[in-house]
Amino acid sequence: MAVSMAAPPLLTLPFLLLLLLSATFSCHVALAHGASGGHGLGVNYGRVADDIPSPRRSVELLRAAGAGSVKIYDANPAVLRALAGTRWPVSIMVPNEVIPDLAASAAAADRWVADNLVPYYPATRVKFLLVGNEVLSDQSIATSVWPRLVPAMDNIHRSLRRRGISSVKIGTTLAMDALADGAFPRPPSAAAFRADIAGSVVRPLLHFLNGTNSYYFVDAYPYFVWAGNNLTVPLDYALFQGGSCTRYVDPATGLTYTNLLDEMLDAVVIAMAKLGYGNVKLAIAETGWPNGCDYDQIGGNVHNAAIYNRNLAARMRKNPGTPLRPGAKMPVFVFSLYNEDLKPGPGTERHWGLYYANGTAVYDIDLTGRRPLSSYPPLPAPENNTPYKGPIWCVLSADASKMLNETEVGNALSYACGQGNGTCDAIQPGRKCYLPNTTVAHASYAFNSYWQQLRKTGATCYFNNLAEQTIKDPSKCLQSISHFFSSMTEFSIGTVVSVRCSTD
Ligand SMILES: *[C@@H]1O[C@H](CO)[C@@H](O)[C@H](O)[C@H]1NC(C)=O
Ligand SMILES: *[C@@H]1O[C@H](CO)[C@@H](O)[C@H](O)[C@H]1NC(C)=O
Ligand SMILES: *[C@@H]1O[C@H](CO)[C@@H](O)[C@H](O)[C@H]1NC(C)=O
Ligand SMILES: *[C@@H]1O[C@H](CO)[C@@H](O)[C@H](O)[C@H]1NC(C)=O
Ligand SMILES: *[C@@H]1O[C@H](CO)[C@@H](O)[C@H](O)[C@H]1NC(C)=O
Ligand SMILES: *[C@@H]1O[C@H](CO)[C@@H](O)[C@H](O)[C@H]1NC(C)=O
Repeated sequence: MAVSMAAPPLLTLPFLLLLLLSATFSCHVALAHGASGGHGLGVNYGRVADDIPSPRRSVELLRAAGAGSVKIYDANPAVLRALAGTRWPVSIMVPNEVIPDLAASAAAADRWVADNLVPYYPATRVKFLLVGNEVLSDQSIATSVWPRLVPAMDNIHRSLRRRGISSVKIGTTLAMDALADGAFPRPPSAAAFRADIAGSVVRPLLHFLNGTNSYYFVDAYPYFVWAGNNLTVPLDYALFQGGSCTRYVDPATGLTYTNLLDEMLDAVVIAMAKLGYGNVKLAIAETGWPNGCDYDQIGGNVHNAAIYNRNLAARMRKNPGTPLRPGAKMPVFVFSLYNEDLKPGPGTERHWGLYYANGTAVYDIDLTGRRPLSSYPPLPAPENNTPYKGPIWCVLSADASKMLNETEVGNALSYACGQGNGTCDAIQPGRKCYLPNTTVAHASYAFNSYWQQLRKTGATCYFNNLAEQTIKDPSKCLQSISHFFSSMTEFSIGTVVSVRCSTD
């Protein structure tokens, strides 16, 4: 099926013109490859958690949510066996660490295919083989992995061809930070790939994707863009429910954006076009909204998560494409199946699930998008859509103190005390916070002291899931950080909340 590209009202940029012309001539083919199967959004099935349901039970939960396809972060045999016979298109992944080996040796790439794909295929309908996850976001592997990414993809491709497997598309996932201005390159028409990767990695990657009729897999999270720009970007615009006052018009193209995700996707399209590959298809490898977050984050709640994912499902069912590519079909994978409690970082990281780890749904969702939005039961009111302004502490979590593991907590305590300057001076014998002399009290002191001192440099209140933020004053010994003063500063600078209104 050919997709006709409606001409945007203002075509000022030559590359856009080229983009549109080449789209016409090459008869931009946008079949979904059954990726969304026409039966609902795909789901990322991540397993960085303890005590989540078995793969077989997970298949039932995916089905209950109306999932149309499944993406995993490895090629786990038990998961692939559970997915056999489900007829879902499945996306599997080569871990970042093995990319250099697969690039260096065609035999190694073939062995990876033989070990991780062949035993399960085609009973498990593998559709996508993703080589690496957000490889270009990790500066620490810039010399070891980045230059090997496309060669590894090439070797995997050759292996599949030799084996006569033609229905598996090869790709790699990239976060929005592949773009020079990150996730929010406004206007989208100004977007370009980062200079450190554009010529060396992205151009050969696009050449590969174009030549194999595969997809650019983007991880696109309007949540993070909104959170980081909460004073200027309206929440409704991020949640697909903006009105005429929350539209954004790209001044260079004249294209009107009704939601943040479209802006982000078109930024990627523009960046690709600037490298001469404006026709490469897009797939959304990850998107979603957190159902919970820390006190010093905003907008992670069940209400917003449900609204985002329900609206996404209803929207994608109609294959709207984007303003630059109206009607283009895109495989879309929601992140994620479960709240994953073993993910480090801020609280949002552990709260993307459609289900809690115990298999209970976080909220009702029909990923096919067929269920009318008005038919869902009421959602809990959101309580953190604006920044929390009171004091916050980081303490040993209620769960961790209830089921105290002295070894684990002791290790975390020593780690915390070893960071920063004088982090644990006050809990040394004889000092003012030594008593009560308990692991619980000392751990809370150490976690908090560490976090208050180092959070500015990115330290989080996590400690292998032993810590949590609290807004209840835990003890006279614990200093807090207050958001009140930082927020006051923001407002006194005179930030103006402005939205563009279109005049229709
Ligand atoms: C992309 O692929 C198409 C179809 O194979 C080809 O005609 C076109 O020249 C390719 N584009 C580039 C920039 O290589
Ligand atoms: C809210 O947005 C402002 C700037 O727009 C940013 O500095 C602040 O960190 C954001 N708040 C949160 C909790 O992300
Ligand atoms: C599952 O976990 C959630 C979150 O911890 C909890 O609210 C819910 O009650 C649990 N459900 C069951 C059946 O235990
Ligand atoms: C405590 O944690 C350690 C390290 O994770 C683990 O090996 C050990 O089994 C745990 N002990 C108990 C009693 O759970
Ligand atoms: C500790 O203090 C020294 C000297 O004041 C300073 O240079 C260093 O950055 C501090 N380290 C941390 C982790 O705060
Ligand atoms: C503090 O607690 C540790 C561990 O329980 C114990 O060995 C030590 O004797 C205690 N110190 C005092 C002064 O009570």
